[in-house]
Amino acid sequence: METEQKEEIYQQVTSAIRATLEGETDLIASMATIACLLHHSFDYFFWTGFYRVIAPGELLIGPYQGTLGCLHISFERGVCGAAARREETIVVPDVHQFPGHIACDSNSKSEIVVPVFNHQDELIAVLDVDSAEYDAFDEVDKRHLEEIVAFLRDKGTELSNEG
Ligand code: SME
Repeated sequence: METEQKEEIYQQVTSAIRATLEGETDLIASMATIACLLHHSFDYFFWTGFYRVIAPGELLIGPYQGTLGCLHISFERGVCGAAARREETIVVPDVHQFPGHIACDSNSKSEIVVPVFNHQDELIAVLDVDSAEYDAFDEVDKRHLEEIVAFLRDKGTELSNEG
């Protein structure tokens, strides 16, 4: 996709997310809204959703759109685990070249995983977006998705009550 068009769609979807989440304090409802609006804004988003930190070193699937996702992911595994461990965004142009990549769906070819923090700067989740095309994600996706997950910083729900 052309950078200009990508920027334009991100600006529209960011405004829609901001408007929809205004005054909403529930974290899961907010994640579901973000996953839905993002997923339906871009043709190259094949799987769009969250994995939540439910115990030290452990992610559990959260709100998502797309085909069936794996439920539990350790911080030791896959792109999601690596992004959670490093607490930084990871862009993978070809998932087959990423050691330990978890293939929940063999159609997935490239992905971006963005860490989500609360207002105390603690990691609470990761946002994972997969594409059925190689090399689908770039610095534009990274910048906008990081801005979008920052909307979750002050949402209220405690996540660590499942372990
Ligand atoms: N590809 C991810 C696993 C999650 S799914 O693709 C939905 C990974 O390696 O972390």
